[in-house]
Amino acid sequence: MSRLSKLYMGTNTKMYKTPVHAVRHLARLTELCSDIPPDVLQLFIIPSYTSIEGMAKLTTRDAIMVGAQSIGYEEEGQYTGEISPLMLSEVGADLVMVGHSERRHTFLESDFDEERRVRCAIEHDFTTLLCVGETLEQKQYGVSREALAVQLKIGLHSVTASQANDKLWIAYEPVWAIGVNGVPADESYANAMHGEIKAALSEIFGSEIGGDIPVLYGGSVNLQNAEKLIRQPNIDGLFIGRGAWDADNFNSIIRAVLPLFQERKGSVRSGKEW
Ligand code: PGA
Repeated sequence: MSRLSKLYMGTNTKMYKTPVHAVRHLARLTELCSDIPPDVLQLFIIPSYTSIEGMAKLTTRDAIMVGAQSIGYEEEGQYTGEISPLMLSEVGADLVMVGHSERRHTFLESDFDEERRVRCAIEHDFTTLLCVGETLEQKQYGVSREALAVQLKIGLHSVTASQANDKLWIAYEPVWAIGVNGVPADESYANAMHGEIKAALSEIFGSEIGGDIPVLYGGSVNLQNAEKLIRQPNIDGLFIGRGAWDADNFNSIIRAVLPLFQERKGSVRSGKEW
């Protein structure tokens, strides 16, 4: 079955929520979404490192995957401030995010840094979510497609097709769309960029595997724009910041988009209301 037959919905809680608040958020979301089967919806939350263990004890991969916001390059070593894949495995992380815009632009990580992190995450068997996105300047100069291709080709340089098939997800997060000052991407622009990403993935991994890698949109997603985004054929899920930090809001977005996604896929289950 294609990996794209289910909807992907997740949140990165950035440097918000202490472990107590993160566990509460997870518990509430679990309660709200308990009627939705895992073959229909893949949920995930990416909290601060200190919340992973407490959250992983409360949930399963099938219900809600718990992820890390980054990963070091090596299992151990002189890397103050980094986190080892062994540490993440031991606390129960399922997923690792690499190359979030704030890592690239606030902490100045390069495409080559992201490539080392992706390699480490995949080698340690984590589902790996590589974030890519062009800056406003790149968009204005008309080089969004080229910028995305560079981030993908360098970031995924050491990933094999079989690893990609099993473990890789991509998030398209245009830098200008993220956070409190962000302007959400117009849905047709987002769809076109997802098309460019899918073309680059097909070039890297071949069309069968490249075309089956989930590509999620992120950047100021909210209840108002989520429906328009999910109607787009190249958008396989949504990766949400602020709009999902309240579990009830997150659930409202999920309930709004899931039937639309299923309609798009032609897989509405008769009589079933999500
Ligand atoms: P936002 O964050 O939804 O608050 O814009 C998105 C992100 O940073 O992944």
